Amino acid sequence: MDRLVINGPAKLSGSVCVSPAKNACLPIMTACLLNPNPITLKDMPTLKDVETLRNLLESLGVKSEVDQKDIRFDAGTIESTDAEYELVRKMRASILVLGPLLARERCAKVSLPGGCAIGTRPIDIHLEGLKKMGAVIDINSGYVFAKTGTEGLVGAQIVLPFPSVGATENLMMAAVLAKGETTITNAAREPEIEDLGNFLNAMGAIVEGAGESIIKIQGVHIDKLKSVSYRAIGDRIEAATYLIAGIITNSEIEVKGFRTKDIASVCDELQSMGAVFEVAEDQIVVKKHDEIKGCNVDTAPFPGFPTDVQAQMMVLATKAITSSVIREKIFENRFMHVPELKRMGANIIKKGNLAMIEGSASLSAAPVMCTDLRASAALVLAALAAEGETVISRVYHLDRGYENLADKLSGLGVDIKRI
Ligand code: UD1
Repeated sequence: MDRLVINGPAKLSGSVCVSPAKNACLPIMTACLLNPNPITLKDMPTLKDVETLRNLLESLGVKSEVDQKDIRFDAGTIESTDAEYELVRKMRASILVLGPLLARERCAKVSLPGGCAIGTRPIDIHLEGLKKMGAVIDINSGYVFAKTGTEGLVGAQIVLPFPSVGATENLMMAAVLAKGETTITNAAREPEIEDLGNFLNAMGAIVEGAGESIIKIQGVHIDKLKSVSYRAIGDRIEAATYLIAGIITNSEIEVKGFRTKDIASVCDELQSMGAVFEVAEDQIVVKKHDEIKGCNVDTAPFPGFPTDVQAQMMVLATKAITSSVIREKIFENRFMHVPELKRMGANIIKKGNLAMIEGSASLSAAPVMCTDLRASAALVLAALAAEGETVISRVYHLDRGYENLADKLSGLGVDIKRI
């Protein structure tokens, strides 16, 4: 099993370009199921999650071909409507095939994604929304069995009890081929939802308001959908991770290839801690700073502080000159990085969903283990700031969502090896 070996403390310099966002690419890939015409997704990141979803789509009959970084999908015929446990269990985002399959084929059998390390993550909001659109849903033997009447899904007024990202995406896609208009109220507003809306519109769907809390979708006939070539937005979470890498090592680096407005809440918080930035529309230059103060952060749905940057922020807080408080309000068990950071010298007290971080820790290298994607990114950041050689094991978690992490950090001057 691969490990990362990082020699710290690191000094970074130069420029890094982030990849298209994993969380935009995955729903866009599942949206290909709606469209019988070929679709080219440009410059796709080489990530384990993208490969896992490609395998799942292929198991449903979608043909795909890789041409360097582009992937061409052809969902001319759907051969199976069964998303099997063996493929779904590897990645929760697989549940996003449910809406498109139901819309196009009028039936679907999708394995329940089950729990995952960061929380139980139910799918009740997805299922309730689909029921409002006329789906009949039965859960049996670990599978969701869903079907529609002979007329297929019908447009509905759906009010989400919580702005779930995945549920908003599943319902938006389902509504593209439904009869009539669907309104999703209290929709998630994450930039990846806006991107999915833009992709759907580019292939002939009629979606209005994606990225806002009310989304309206006019159902269209499948014949109205057309071929499209599309590149997803830059990865705001990857960008935030590199920004924190620059700050925690007090280095000057440029992070580019993303819309800086997509991480305004993160930038505001980092600047109030004392970080110094030069911000343009699609890049940020991190400048050297004097001292970093503690933070008081609550994670929240967009435009609030993203849960996907919580672990990375906690590492920075360990180096601040004052103490910090971080509350995780999206997932119930997203502090798995805490014990590993403590092994590196961090002083963190965890109480339920609240973490109190005493600043001014002198982090030291230790053998540590990845537990989930963003927790692993936090360990890499800690290794950059720590004195000595940190060995990080189970790096397959990082491969799920950070393209070429070791090469990108090495390009910034970090002494990092993958063994
Ligand atoms: C997506 C992102 C993930 C990010 C999360 C929150 C992808 C592939 N993943 O995950 O990186 O951390 O948004 O920004 O885009 N919930 C329910 N019932 C449901 C659905 C969700 O109770 O039917 C709960 C979840 O358990 C969780 C919270 O709502 O506590 C947020 O989940 P959701 O917004 O759906 O996140 P995901 O789409 O799974």
